[in-house]
Amino acid sequence: MTTEPKDAPRSSWLADRLGWDRLRSSLDRHAVPRHSFFFYIGGLTLFALLLQVASGILLMMYYRPDAAAAHASVERIAREIPYGGLVRGVHVWAADLFVAMLLLHAFIVMVRRSFKSPQELGWLSGVLLMLIGIGQAFTGAVLPWSERAYTNARVGSQLAGYTPMVGDWFRRFLRGGEELSTDTLSRAYAFHVALLPAAMTVVVAGHFYFISRKPVVALEESNTKTIPFYPDFLIRQGVAFVGILVLVLTLAIFADRSIGTVADPRLATPADAQPPWYMLALHYVVRTAPRELLGVEGPRFLGGAVTALGVLFAALPFVDRRGSRITVWLSWVGLFALLLLSFRALH
Ligand code: HEM
Repeated sequence: MTTEPKDAPRSSWLADRLGWDRLRSSLDRHAVPRHSFFFYIGGLTLFALLLQVASGILLMMYYRPDAAAAHASVERIAREIPYGGLVRGVHVWAADLFVAMLLLHAFIVMVRRSFKSPQELGWLSGVLLMLIGIGQAFTGAVLPWSERAYTNARVGSQLAGYTPMVGDWFRRFLRGGEELSTDTLSRAYAFHVALLPAAMTVVVAGHFYFISRKPVVALEESNTKTIPFYPDFLIRQGVAFVGILVLVLTLAIFADRSIGTVADPRLATPADAQPPWYMLALHYVVRTAPRELLGVEGPRFLGGAVTALGVLFAALPFVDRRGSRITVWLSWVGLFALLLLSFRALH
């Protein structure tokens, strides 16, 4: 008969089957700088996303993706369904917060030069998440089919139309034809509730896989004050989640997001129509473009320039392999330019 040594570590039946000990010893090798708030932003982005998913599933139960019924169904959710206004408020505010966190997270990764080797795939999957995330927020803004939603659909598809080479096809694809119609709304709905969430799930899983291949900070290498990833960092991250939840609930209760009047396709889009805040800068650049630049139609030329910048941004870990100071400097210039252009667009 074999006897177990008295001091052998005992693991429970469930822990044994989950492989908890192995996971635990891998978590024990991770640490996070003690006073850096930067490390909480990626997790908060995920939390804002989860809030959207949870509230979005509830909204789906009452929303009607049909041009004749969409606006009335959103009014019904907000005014008649118990807690419908709260759920809609959470969804809309969490969407804005999600985009803001997404942009802030990308900015932090740039200025900390965390994109460099071996995080190339972490960065590339992040760039994909940025595109999917903005698409997610943007298609959502079309769904109430209000005057503003209609304007968003028109301005957004027009901007997409300035993509080099595929622009005209892209615009027609998003609209479901040459002009906006009920097909535009059905497409936005299909993208918003099926295609983009499915893509997001796959890419988020990839993002976490890629970034976890490198410990956030290898304990033995770190020379700053650190805290263990488990449980200290995770507990703090949990407290940050509660903070964001309280913020979103407060905004949802006290800061009403107006639904606006129902869209009337017979009315012309007002000259001062604005897209959502995260598209203000791009819209402003295209709107104020000269008629012609170097023999090319002005907005198309600028569309090409913005696309080229986007490709350069995506390829950053390969263009700047070591993470130079120039990238940090350019990140600040880029942020300043975006804020300035967005501000100019509003005034
Ligand atoms: C749904 C959107 C996203 C989620 C949920 C997410 C989540 C996270 C989390 C939790 C971390 C680890 C903690 C941290 O560094 O904050 C992280 C790291 C990282 N993220 Fe994201 N992220 C998203 C989008 C992005 C975007 C848009 C980019 C860049 C364009 C990006 C690039 C990276 C990189 C390179 C790292 C590794 C940082 C390092 O090694 O220190 N992520 N992400």
